[in-house]
Amino acid sequence: METQQKKRILSMIQPTGTFTLGNYLGALKNFVHLQDDYDCVYALADLHAITVRQEPGDFRKNTMSAYALLLAMGIDLEKSIFFIQSQVPEHAQLAWVLNCYTQFGELSRMTQFKDKSQKHADNINAGLFTYPCLMAADILLYQADYVPIGADQKQHLELTRNIAERFNGLYSPTFTVPEPIIPKHGARIMSLQDPTKKMSKSDENVNGFITVLDDPDTILRKFKRAVTDSDAQVRFDPENKPGVSNLMGIYSCATGKTMEEIEAEFQGKGYGDFKPAVAEAVIAELKPIQERYQQIIGDKAYLEQCYKENAPKAQRIARKTLQKVMKKVGYLPL
Ligand code: TYM
Repeated sequence: METQQKKRILSMIQPTGTFTLGNYLGALKNFVHLQDDYDCVYALADLHAITVRQEPGDFRKNTMSAYALLLAMGIDLEKSIFFIQSQVPEHAQLAWVLNCYTQFGELSRMTQFKDKSQKHADNINAGLFTYPCLMAADILLYQADYVPIGADQKQHLELTRNIAERFNGLYSPTFTVPEPIIPKHGARIMSLQDPTKKMSKSDENVNGFITVLDDPDTILRKFKRAVTDSDAQVRFDPENKPGVSNLMGIYSCATGKTMEEIEAEFQGKGYGDFKPAVAEAVIAELKPIQERYQQIIGDKAYLEQCYKENAPKAQRIARKTLQKVMKKVGYLPL
């Protein structure tokens, strides 16, 4: 009874290597917090992952590791569903239908498509282009009310809303029109080496990003090397002080302190005090996750059992929506 009244959350992450501090602060941390108040459905977006070429052995390993890492972060299978996208075929099925309700022009405007096709100029495949339709299918299949994401996914969410409204308008109300949940700080964690660029694991400069499995020495070293400015004042001013403001955002996410509190804490102190403090806060936040990850990553049987149990739970919800859609479009029922 209680779960029926709760609003539904849906979000996913691509299992392509370890996660960055950006993934964690922008989205994953929210995944965990939202579990008590919402009916949460989470997944590894492994269908999305092959829009960029994956080496099969690494891909399998990364998917398993990502599953373990999200459990280590606190996704609780007693409260939430957590599955692997490729194990619920309804995603690919609805994506096809939605492809036919999405315009070429709309997909052409997606900035992630433009960025990724520049980065992978030798493999601008059709999947990379239609990727937002698959993401829309992911969300709409579960009738999600809210979608926790970082700022870079906002445009995809807006497209999802447009597709849902279009379909609802053409037929009759079918899909819940979802809203994003984007954190105030942490929605766009920037590279430590170039604070005008988003922190990303595909950055060639490994000093630009922190991964959630980096050891304390590495984290400290990367923060000490972070690009700041010559002003030596800890002040929040994203326009003129992007490096320091980015570090303040990270510190705020890790400690819960406001920008004013952080400015007061470091008043009269330089970056020599500030940078190690940010590092220590991040190390403290990640330590329990890393410990839990080490405990469960070796237990393949447990992990396998978890994802195998969760796929049918997700599929029950997804199938219901897909059947509704097929009927409305005019397909003959089996
Ligand atoms: P992905 O796998 O690139 O990233 C997962 C989540 O992490 C957020 N994120 C960041 N947040 C703050 N700062 C950063 N530097 C940063 N980098 C990444 C992303 O915004 C995202 O929330 N298309 C999605 C995966 C997806 C999905 C979905 C998400 C597939 N289906 C359905 C929500 C709902 C993606 O590639 O995220």
